[in-house]
Amino acid sequence: MPSPQEILNELKKIKYPGYSRDIVSFGMIKDIEVASAGVTVILTAPAAKPEVIDEIAEEIRRTVAAMPGAPAVRMQIDQAPPPRVAQSLPRKPIPGVKHVIAVASGKGGVGKSTVAVNLTLAMRALGWSVGLMDADVYGPSVAMMVGADGRAGLTSERRILPLERFGVRYISMAMFIGDDTPIIWRGPMITKLESEFLFNVEWGELDCLIIDLPPGTGDAQLTITQRAALDGGVIVTTPQEIALLDVKRGVAMFNEVEVPVLGVIENMSYHLCGKCGHRHEIFAHGGGQRFAKELGVPFLGELPITRELREGGDHAQPIVAAHPEHPVSGAFRSVAANVIAHLTRVERPAG
Ligand SMILES: Nc1ncnc2c1ncn2[C@@H]1O[C@H](COP(=O)(O)OP(=O)(O)O)[C@@H](O)[C@H]1O
Ligand SMILES: [Mg+2]
Repeated sequence: MPSPQEILNELKKIKYPGYSRDIVSFGMIKDIEVASAGVTVILTAPAAKPEVIDEIAEEIRRTVAAMPGAPAVRMQIDQAPPPRVAQSLPRKPIPGVKHVIAVASGKGGVGKSTVAVNLTLAMRALGWSVGLMDADVYGPSVAMMVGADGRAGLTSERRILPLERFGVRYISMAMFIGDDTPIIWRGPMITKLESEFLFNVEWGELDCLIIDLPPGTGDAQLTITQRAALDGGVIVTTPQEIALLDVKRGVAMFNEVEVPVLGVIENMSYHLCGKCGHRHEIFAHGGGQRFAKELGVPFLGELPITRELREGGDHAQPIVAAHPEHPVSGAFRSVAANVIAHLTRVERPAG
């Protein structure tokens, strides 16, 4: 077995792709562990592109495997955490927009977009002028849910004009990405697109802009929450225990960028039968409330799972606008009233 120093000397012969300098002097080798089972090379590459890292890793593998004893090689790639942009990126207010909130979830399919759409409409029903931005480039669905699937217009200053449906202004990435566009944009591309997008929309005067974040709590979500001067974040969850763990991640994400958590909404909390109007408890519901309490964040309310809510989304007739008398619409208005109460509390200067 070669020693770590011997391996390091060999690795000094590998040039960083496109440079005359070697990967060791670039500081890419974090550690080399030699054990009877083989060699582990720990590579650190904070700024390199994935293809470049792959290329270097392959070269290391070949080099070490060719050394005396032909050791088995294991690569460990230590991706440095992305730089904290919170301190470096200035938060920008969006002209004409009083409050901005982001709706987040730990994972997809919890009904985040359904909740964002109907919450927006419920705030509208309570007299607020509102806009909704679909920032989920991987699965934009807001446009479909409200039937705002036309192309957005441009002002003479080349600012994007939102579409209007049910008295609410919408903008969605779907309006800019054709159905045939492969969604291969990753990390920096997306965040760049979204942060520009956010400030290039001609919203007019809005009491509140709601942003439907992509599911999850990764880089793209962080950038938006960092870039916009957010008043707060709302986390949508479902009653299952596993989903509740995602709430923790959502809270951690907002904490990281110092955005207050306005609260947690539990979706699909219980089943509301469309025929008999009966309430069926499917999961042991109340988990969202319990969890919010544990994490010290407000609980904004629970929403039933009900067929009409899904159908409303499928047919571009969101229930809060199309059937304001439905009990689900009432549930949304009560959540909206809670959101508004927390928002206006946030706004009030301390002391
Ligand atoms: N409370 C609910 N009752 C019935 N169907 C729901 C409810 N919430 C969401 N859905 C349905 O679940 C699916 C996923 O919802 P969606 O809002 O797209 O989730 P996400 O944005 O979190 O991925 C959609 O078909 C939607 O109509
Ligand atoms: Mg969605």
